[in-house]
Amino acid sequence: MTQDSLLPDDPEPEGAGMPLALEPEPEPDDSPPARVLAEGARSLGDLRATAAGCRACHLWRDATQTVFGEGPAEERGAVRMVLIGEQPGDSEDVEGRPFVGPAGALLDRALVDAGIDRAQTYVTNTVKHFKWTPKDVRGPGFRGTGKRRIHAKPNAEEISACRPWLDAELALLRPELVVCLGATAAQALLGKAFRVTRQRGEVLDGPGGYRYTATVHPSSVLRADDATRAAAYDGLVADLRVAAQVLAAA
Ligand code: URA
Repeated sequence: MTQDSLLPDDPEPEGAGMPLALEPEPEPDDSPPARVLAEGARSLGDLRATAAGCRACHLWRDATQTVFGEGPAEERGAVRMVLIGEQPGDSEDVEGRPFVGPAGALLDRALVDAGIDRAQTYVTNTVKHFKWTPKDVRGPGFRGTGKRRIHAKPNAEEISACRPWLDAELALLRPELVVCLGATAAQALLGKAFRVTRQRGEVLDGPGGYRYTATVHPSSVLRADDATRAAAYDGLVADLRVAAQVLAAA
C-alpha cells in the first residue's frame, strides 16, 4: 500500500468499512494435532523436542515456549511418581521448566515435609503453554499491554488438545502413582465429576491402568489468607504423605 492510499480522499482504501482491528487476526492453524505429533516419539527426549513445536491449539501464540515435564530420575528410568499441575505460570513460561516459580517452591517444600524424594518424581502439567491475559492497568474493560501477565484458566478444548502429550509422558514413564495437583489435572484425568475438596487423598485406579491420587494445587495454598494458609499447607502435606505411603508399600 502506498502512502497515497491512506489519504482520507482515497475512494476505496484497503479495509474501508471494516471495524478497526486492534490486534491482527490469528491465522488459522493447520498444524497436526498433538496426537499425531506424539505418536512417533520413542523417548521423552523425542517427545519433548516434538512438543516444542506444538501448534495444536492457539495457546502457543501468546506463550514464550512449550513447558514440558521433567524430573531428575527421567534419564535413569527411575520415575516412581508423576505430579501433574494445571499449566505453566509466568516464571515457568520464561524459564521453560515446570514448577520453578512460587508455586514450585512451595511444592518442593511440601514434598520434603511429606518425605517424598523429589529425585524420584517427574513434574508436568495438564496444559503445556502458559495461558494469560494482560493485567488490567486502566480499570475495568481495558485489555491493553499491562506489564503483568495474569494466569487464565485453560478451557476444555485447550486441555483436550494438549492431552496427547500427557498420555504419552505417562505411557513412557509408567509411574507407580500419579498425583493430580488441583482440579484441572484431577478432572482432566479422573473425570468431570471428581471433586478435589471431597476426594483429595483417596487412592484410586484410573486411565492408563495407573494409580492416582489428588490434592489441592500449591497455588491455592499461596492464595489462602493468613488465617488459613498454615492449615492449607498442612492439608497438602498430609495428602502428599498418602502418596509417599503408596510408594513405600509398593
Ligand atoms: N502452576 C502449575 O500448575 N504448573 C506450573 O508449572 C506452575 C504453576
